[in-house]
Amino acid sequence: MSGKIEIEGGIPLRGQVRIRGAKNSALPILAATVMTEGASRIGSCPALSDVRASMEILKYLGCVVSFRDGVVYADSTELYGAPIPETLMREMRSSIIFLGAILARFGEARLSLPGGCDIGLRPIDLHLAALREMGARIEERGGIIRCYCPQGLRGADISLAFPSVGATENIMLAACAARGTTRIFNAAREPEIEDLAAFLNHAGARIGGAGSAEIVIAGGAELHGCEHTVIPDRIAAGSYLAAAAITGGSVSVVGARAEHLRTVLPVFRSAGCEVTETPEGIRLDAPPRLDAVNYIRTMPYPGFPTDLQAPLSACMCVARGTGIVRETIFENRYKHVPGLLRLGADIRLEGGCAVIRGVRKLTGADVEAADLRGGFALILAGLAAEGKTTVSGAEHIDRGYENVCGTLCSLGARVRAC
Ligand code: EPZ
Repeated sequence: MSGKIEIEGGIPLRGQVRIRGAKNSALPILAATVMTEGASRIGSCPALSDVRASMEILKYLGCVVSFRDGVVYADSTELYGAPIPETLMREMRSSIIFLGAILARFGEARLSLPGGCDIGLRPIDLHLAALREMGARIEERGGIIRCYCPQGLRGADISLAFPSVGATENIMLAACAARGTTRIFNAAREPEIEDLAAFLNHAGARIGGAGSAEIVIAGGAELHGCEHTVIPDRIAAGSYLAAAAITGGSVSVVGARAEHLRTVLPVFRSAGCEVTETPEGIRLDAPPRLDAVNYIRTMPYPGFPTDLQAPLSACMCVARGTGIVRETIFENRYKHVPGLLRLGADIRLEGGCAVIRGVRKLTGADVEAADLRGGFALILAGLAAEGKTTVSGAEHIDRGYENVCGTLCSLGARVRAC
């Protein structure tokens, strides 16, 4: 969907949302199918533009891939290593995740640098340094990365200076094909890392410790097709809970796992919401007006997730009191602030923090989404605002939220794509 989303605000949202598979789990798992011989069936895949972009890259490499009713079928038995064209690489920032998989499968890879994106420069130095430690030779010239390992990849002990999700994933993928064992220290601990390891182990890999800061991968495994179901999207779940919170409503996110939101649910509670963990998922009942949360600081998992910073910042705009939000993961993740200000929020950016003084009401306006999660934050503010809000740049939102208009309408919102 490109274009705009029109919102008539002021309606408390009520009902339930079935949470689909996690975008940030489906994408590395789709990349991992490059390393498997045979057919894989990947269930609970979200219908998102980033998933479609990954499928285009797989097709370009020769994979037979299709998507039907939330399931991706991929068979990478016959692949021809080919440099991925810049157009395909640029369609999705996270296409760098194909690097480790292609290098593992073909012994060489040629990709264009993904380049920065809306929330920061997104360097890949940690990815490349790790692959070099595993024996890859890497040339970066003219925006193209060329990797090759004539003697194949070798296992190594790799300490990450930062628990990078993408770097951890690329190392895991490459390590499956390496000779010997690879140990990753200071690995990312996100649930999506565990899910990628589960897929790879279903395909014949031998990975232990995923989800902890130390992951061990025994190399040399021949990976085969397998069946796997993607974990639910914790960020989508938190985003729809925020929609209930900001509108004073009551929403259940069915299929969400509370253990993936251990540092998020307490924030909703401290804002005055009643949050109940049920066998089906998580229910949030919001007060008529939220209380400001003193301090929200984003951290690597299991800390408060950077991907929910913008949605929770939107909630704080109408809360009672003043709160501080500190983004520590990405250097440019306040691009939703101008739009929130246009809607009447009172926010000051100071020293890397957003100081948000809650106002009694926001007023509808035309605003522009600059990135995926910031775009959703603008929708949230529009849902709470008096009158009509138009959010343009809806294509950003389509990357990470499946059928966002239909989902919000099912909760009673007056929202339409236009
Ligand atoms: C993944 O991005 C997610 N994307 C992001 O979700 C998420 O915000 C992020 O992890 C953090 O949780 C996918 O999984 C597809 P990182 P990734 O490598 O892997 C720096 C969303 O909205 N860094 O953990 O790119 C980097 O600049 C998206 O769904 C280096 O310096 O995140 C950033 O400041 C947005 N060098 C920090 O680490 C490197 O080589 C975290 O990046 C790699 C990263």
